[in-house]
Amino acid sequence: MRGSVAFITGGARGIGLGIARALGKRGVKLALADVDEPALARAAGELAPVETFRLDVRDRDAFAAAADSVERTLGPVDLLFNNAGIVPHSAVEELTYAKWDVALAVNLTGVINGIQTFLPRMIERRAGYVVNTASVAGLVSDPNLLYATAKFAVVGLSESLRLNVAKHGIGVSVLCPGPVDTGIVAHTRSLEEGVALRDELVPAVAAFLAGGPGIDAVGEMVVAGVERRSPWIFTGDEVRPHLEKRAAALLEAF
Ligand SMILES: NC(=O)c1ccc[n+]([C@@H]2O[C@H](COP(=O)([O-])OP(=O)(O)OC[C@H]3O[C@@H](n4cnc5c(N)ncnc54)[C@H](O)[C@@H]3O)[C@@H](O)[C@H]2O)c1
Repeated sequence: MRGSVAFITGGARGIGLGIARALGKRGVKLALADVDEPALARAAGELAPVETFRLDVRDRDAFAAAADSVERTLGPVDLLFNNAGIVPHSAVEELTYAKWDVALAVNLTGVINGIQTFLPRMIERRAGYVVNTASVAGLVSDPNLLYATAKFAVVGLSESLRLNVAKHGIGVSVLCPGPVDTGIVAHTRSLEEGVALRDELVPAVAAFLAGGPGIDAVGEMVVAGVERRSPWIFTGDEVRPHLEKRAAALLEAF
């Protein structure tokens, strides 16, 4: 990894920052993209060498400009982490097109935009590695419809992409975290209030996430998963019994 270049969306905080720290320790040159500028500045203060970009993953022009800029300053991107995300929520009776659009634009199209920006450059160089952040909620149905829809799509996209790009020497993993101790609930509220978790649901979800590993441990798990070129990267085994039930139910349905 030493000397390679990584581009991490949602890299200013949370899991993205954990990945950046783990890569930084291994001598990887870092490009962090995020919508939160103060958080980007804090991350840049602790990591070097690093380039930061105020980038909304919905903005395709900003992605292209950032890719050009990173190539000029750090070199071609070897490792792409499509990690930025929110935890949108809505009661099913209160769903609107506006909520669907926000949820899918950030959590799914944001991943597609990262791939569409960097993959042609990787194919041309016949080298590269892509890690998309989904969730265990992309493997086992979760009552959070907005979240599960996008995360199942990110898992499917990643598995299919892996099949397509192996011939170009490019690897793909999908990161499927269980609970990780980050501020995603509060961050979603400040970024996208219209799809924020209702107040009465926050304490239980926050407590659930706080029971998971911290971002530095997760960053190490991600690097280990990339080194193994693992199709799926997990952060705990909470989902295992649910996956077993799902697989059994699927097979039972034949
Ligand atoms: N924390 C968990 O328990 C957990 C579990 C499963 C999956 N995930 C996934 O992990 C990823 C990272 O989440 P986290 O827990 O580290 O959250 P986080 O809020 O700590 O970090 C996410 C980062 O993404 C940024 N971001 C949000 N919307 C953006 C946009 N439109 N453009 C660019 N940047 C944007 C935020 O500013 C933030 O810095 C997300 O995709 C999330 O769905 C998290």
